[in-house]
Amino acid sequence: MQRVYFDNAATTPISKRVIDAMVPVMREAYGNPSSIHAEGRMVRAALEEARKTVAQCISAGTGEVFFTSGGTESNNMAIKCSVRDLGVERIISSPTEHHCGLHTIETVQRMHGIEVVWLPVNELGRINYGDLENALSSSDKKTLVSLMHANNEIGTMIDLGKVSELCQKHQALLHTDTVQTIGHFPMNVQETPVHFLSGAAHKFHGPKGVGFLYINPDSMIKPYIDGGSQERNMRGGTENVYGIVGLAKALELAVAEMEERIVRISETRQYLKSQLLEHFDDIRFNGDHEGQSLYTVLNVSFPPNPKNELLLLSLDIAGVSCSGGSACSSGSEKGSHVLDAIGMSPDRKSIRFSFSHYNTREEVDFVIQKLKTILPVREMVPL
Ligand SMILES: Cc1ncc(COP(=O)(O)O)c(C=O)c1O
Repeated sequence: MQRVYFDNAATTPISKRVIDAMVPVMREAYGNPSSIHAEGRMVRAALEEARKTVAQCISAGTGEVFFTSGGTESNNMAIKCSVRDLGVERIISSPTEHHCGLHTIETVQRMHGIEVVWLPVNELGRINYGDLENALSSSDKKTLVSLMHANNEIGTMIDLGKVSELCQKHQALLHTDTVQTIGHFPMNVQETPVHFLSGAAHKFHGPKGVGFLYINPDSMIKPYIDGGSQERNMRGGTENVYGIVGLAKALELAVAEMEERIVRISETRQYLKSQLLEHFDDIRFNGDHEGQSLYTVLNVSFPPNPKNELLLLSLDIAGVSCSGGSACSSGSEKGSHVLDAIGMSPDRKSIRFSFSHYNTREEVDFVIQKLKTILPVREMVPL
């Protein structure tokens, strides 16, 4: 049976070229990169080559990239270690951050008595930059601003350049979760300085369980995971070498092919948008869908209907994979903290469709055809 995978914000399929880069490492490069013998040195070389590639993709220095187990660990590391090691006493963030940012901030608030300023978001899911500036100037406490570059549920993006400028002006540290944007948008930490930037390979056709944290040398922290001297003393534990090689290959391809992918994915998204509006009544889109937003995400709000309750399941049975919000809530269908924050009516049903360059117009037609078997179709007015 045909299936359509429109859940690429949850995770992406690994590209064949990435697998081809990883397999030789799995087959032949079995040494421990910390060993000084030939087998170890060979793997160390692959690891450092991968670091160089990632650093080049974001215009960072090679020594500023640290591999982790993914976006969650990178966010935990940046937030917890900047409190522990850099004297951060106050965090400014927003209620629509990914749970791995949100819950980490709540943990440091509880455990270390850190003051937290939650900036409200508007109906598009965006903070007000005036509010950020007011918050920055209202206290002399050492402050970390932690804001995601793009929201994984509704796609709304912040103006990272503006946030970076405000943080520089007020001498605040800046951490940004770029898990949904790395490999999808150009990133340059020279032009847009940040102190910490988190990424995860599985969002750009790399393997799961591997990510990285860029750390600005001005805000060097101590290890989050204690152990051996791996990752230049920053993260103990033998490195996930084939994962790291896969991450670097996936990022290299994503950056090299970014323009073509943007065109292709934007067309798929636009086509789904127009088809939904054509075939169904009272369709709305959540987030800043026409403005500064992920081109990979379309969060659709369907009008109240008794079928809504089981819409995700019905789509799944019909062969369409999408999500109710973030991946973590898609199985359990729990309410979304992001949709709550933008004031979405609980009577409507929001579904996140998210795309990759592997998706096609024909897949959009398939999804529309299946949706028509589940939801009421727009009445055609006779000519
Ligand atoms: C914005 C954002 N941050 C962090 C994460 C967590 O990344 P990982 O699954 O690699 O731990 C995700 C993935 O769901 C995400 O979308």
